Amino acid sequence: MARVNPQPEERVLPPELYAQLDAFIEELHISPDDARRKDTLIQVLHKAQGLFGFLPEELQLHIADRFAVSHAEVSGVISFYNYFTTTPKGKYRINVCLGTACYVNGAEKVLQEFERVLGIKAGQVTADGKFSIESLRCVGACGLAPVITINDKVYGKVQPGKAHDILEHYLVEIVGEEVPLYA
Ligand code: FES
Repeated sequence: MARVNPQPEERVLPPELYAQLDAFIEELHISPDDARRKDTLIQVLHKAQGLFGFLPEELQLHIADRFAVSHAEVSGVISFYNYFTTTPKGKYRINVCLGTACYVNGAEKVLQEFERVLGIKAGQVTADGKFSIESLRCVGACGLAPVITINDKVYGKVQPGKAHDILEHYLVEIVGEEVPLYA
């Protein structure tokens, strides 16, 4: 199949993950005239993010090429859905809600405390790759404001002083590993 997009000069992501992604794409039997191709593209992006953790440009180009669509089309889908990310995240993704209900109940201080305890800012990942912090708008649990989520788990009525306890709980769950908190 002719390439639609220029390929990056050098790939830095693991070849074995590309192989897994390609095997997944093969099983989908994508045809250029399939009306459900966009749905399939979203499905592949989910798979790719699950494998690689994020969707950087070299991966976007690869997927665009497999679908014979432009890079712009793939990046457009990625930027449309909040779920997709083009930057690496931690093993534990902390999202602090800064929607109105959470904000008026002190979410900004909660965010600052998580940043202080982990020694990173929102949008960053800890050096060991374990935690990343993001902010988002309303997760639909306003009655529990202020709210944070860590991966799929929701924490309500989070006070800034609880940041350390919540994070410590995650470190205990990392069996056999002792990772000191930065506080
Ligand atoms: S504003 Fe935070 S859950 Fe709605």
